[in-house]
Amino acid sequence: MRAAVCREYGPPEVVQVADDHPAPALGPGQVRVRVHAAAVNFPDVLLVADKYQVSVRPPFVPGSEFAGVVSEVADDVDPTSAGAGAVAVGDRVIGTAMVGAFAEEAVATAATVQRIPAGVDERTAAAFGVAHRTAYHVLRSVAALQPGEELIVLGAGGGVGLAAVQLGAHLGATVTAVASSPEKLAVASAHGAAHLVDHRAGDLRPALRAVLPDGGDVVVDPVGGALAEPALRSLRWGGRFVTVGYASGEIPRIPLNLVLLKGVQVLGFQFLAFATNAPDEAERNEGELMALLAAGRATPHIGATFGLDDAAVALRYVADGRAIGKVVLDIAETPGEN
Ligand SMILES: NC(=O)c1ccc[n+]([C@@H]2O[C@H](COP(=O)([O-])OP(=O)(O)OC[C@H]3O[C@@H](n4cnc5c(N)ncnc54)[C@H](OP(=O)(O)O)[C@@H]3O)[C@@H](O)[C@H]2O)c1
Repeated sequence: MRAAVCREYGPPEVVQVADDHPAPALGPGQVRVRVHAAAVNFPDVLLVADKYQVSVRPPFVPGSEFAGVVSEVADDVDPTSAGAGAVAVGDRVIGTAMVGAFAEEAVATAATVQRIPAGVDERTAAAFGVAHRTAYHVLRSVAALQPGEELIVLGAGGGVGLAAVQLGAHLGATVTAVASSPEKLAVASAHGAAHLVDHRAGDLRPALRAVLPDGGDVVVDPVGGALAEPALRSLRWGGRFVTVGYASGEIPRIPLNLVLLKGVQVLGFQFLAFATNAPDEAERNEGELMALLAAGRATPHIGATFGLDDAAVALRYVADGRAIGKVVLDIAETPGEN
C-alpha cells in the first residue's frame, strides 16, 4: 500500500512516501479501514522527532486520526452487537490510533471507531476527532461551563482552541479568543468569539482586563508557557482554569498564592484518563457531540489540505505553528456518504 513512512527519528522531512509499504496486520477485535482522509496533529511531529511522551520505533507510519470505509473486520468482531464495536464492512467510520493514519489502509480497535453521520464528508470527519472531543469534554465536564459565563480560550487558532471557541459559544458562553495573529483571530471570530486578543500585540494581562473588566469565569489552555499565568490572573474569584496541553513547549509553573488569593480551581484534562475514569460522562458527551456534528453545528475548520505525497510538508506546516484549525491529508478519493 502507499504510505508516508518515518524510517528514522528527525524533523518532518524524514517522512517519505513509499508505494509498497506492507499493510498493517489485522489483530483480534480490530477493523481494517480504507483511509480517505487523515488529520495532521502536533503530536505526530513529536513522534517523528522522538520527543513525544511515548516512543514508537521506526519504521512506522505517522498519523493518529483518520476517516474512511471499513474493508475488513476481525473474526471476533460482531457487526450485529449493540453499542460500541458494532461495525461492518462498508461502514464509513472515524478512527484513532497512536500511529498508522497516513496510509491507504489503517487498523483500529472496533470499539474505538465511530460511524460517520450521514451528510458528513470524510475530510470533515477526519478533522473532527480528537480536537472537538477534547474541547467538548473539557467544557462540558471539567469546566462545567454554564450559559452566560465568560470563557477565555488560549491557542484559539489551533485545533483544540478553535473547537473550544465554537463549542463554548454553542454552550452559551461569551468567548474571548487569544491567538498570535489577526488571521487566526478572524477565524475565531467567524466561529463565535465575541472578544479577540492578539497576544503578540502587547501584554496579555492588560489586554484581557480591557475586554473583561470583571474577569473571566473559565480559561481553557492548550498552550501553556508564558500565557498561562496572565490568563489565570484574569479570572474572577472562583473561576476555573483548565490545563489541556503545552503547545508552546513549556510547562508553566503557577504561584500557588494566586490560587489562594483568587479562590480559583486549577483543573486538568487528559483524554485517556478521562475516558477511563469517567466512562459514563465520556459516553454522554460523545453522543451529544456526534449529534452536533450530524446537525452541522460542530464543524471543524480545515485551514489547509495536502495530498499524501506531501505528508512531510503538512507535518512541517503544523510544526511551524502555521495551521489554523485542522490540517488534513487527502489519501484517496472521497466517495461522499454512502
Ligand atoms: N490533554 C489532552 O488529552 C489533549 C488532547 C488533544 C491535544 N492536546 C494537546 O493540546 C495542545 C494543542 O493541540 P492542538 O491540536 O490545538 O494544536 P495546534 O492546532 O497545533 O494549536 C496549538 C496552538 O498553540 C499555540 N502555540 C504557541 N506556541 C507554539 C509553538 N511553539 N508551536 C506550535 N503552536 C504553538 C498556537 O497558537 P498561537 O500561537 O496563535 O497562540 C497554536 O495555534 C497540544 O500540546 C496537544 O498535544 C492535549
